[in-house]
Amino acid sequence: MPRKHAMPLEQVRRYLEPGPVVLVSSAHGEERDIMVMGWHTVMEFSPSLVGCVISSANHSYGLVRASGECVINLPTTALTEQVLGIGSTSGADIDKFACFGLTPEAAEVVGALAIGECHAQFECRLYDDSLVDRYDFFIFEVVAARAAATPKHPQTLHYKGDGVFMVAGDIIRRRRSGLK
Ligand SMILES: Cc1cc2nc3c(=O)[nH]c(=O)nc-3n(C[C@H](O)[C@H](O)[C@H](O)COP(=O)(O)O)c2cc1C
Repeated sequence: MPRKHAMPLEQVRRYLEPGPVVLVSSAHGEERDIMVMGWHTVMEFSPSLVGCVISSANHSYGLVRASGECVINLPTTALTEQVLGIGSTSGADIDKFACFGLTPEAAEVVGALAIGECHAQFECRLYDDSLVDRYDFFIFEVVAARAAATPKHPQTLHYKGDGVFMVAGDIIRRRRSGLK
């Protein structure tokens, strides 16, 4: 289980801007759930805002709407089988933490449980729900963030649709003044 350390919230973009597949955990009352998310977008660095679609057809939708919270967990390729399983089942039928052997960890700020096996955990509160009814589009503020120190560039999954994934590849550095 990767040991994670707290990080400045404006650095959350380093993990989410490349667009990795993430696992979104949520809870409300006695219920908890996990869904796979293939698309999301960083909307602002500080406050740390992330926009995404959570389909109203998903069981997670009701938990996120009712609680106004979730955790965005970053899996690596080590969790590929769990990603496939979580993305093809419903929390209405099963407890995904138990079914897929994932360790629930208490979050610091939100009520949703984080996933211990993931490389990073971003605790989110609903920031703006004005597009939810129309587009299922949620805007979250990341209110607490933790990541493992190593590997520095984890091997993440990126979804191309129809069951095809791309795996994060080579890192190149092109630093110059003016680049954020
Ligand atoms: C790779 C992948 C990416 C997905 N991306 C999204 C997404 O961005 N938004 C969404 O609403 N559902 C997405 N899904 C579908 C949900 O993860 C899936 O329906 C899941 O089973 C919902 O679980 P739940 O009903 O327990 O909430 C994706 C599924 C996979 C496999």
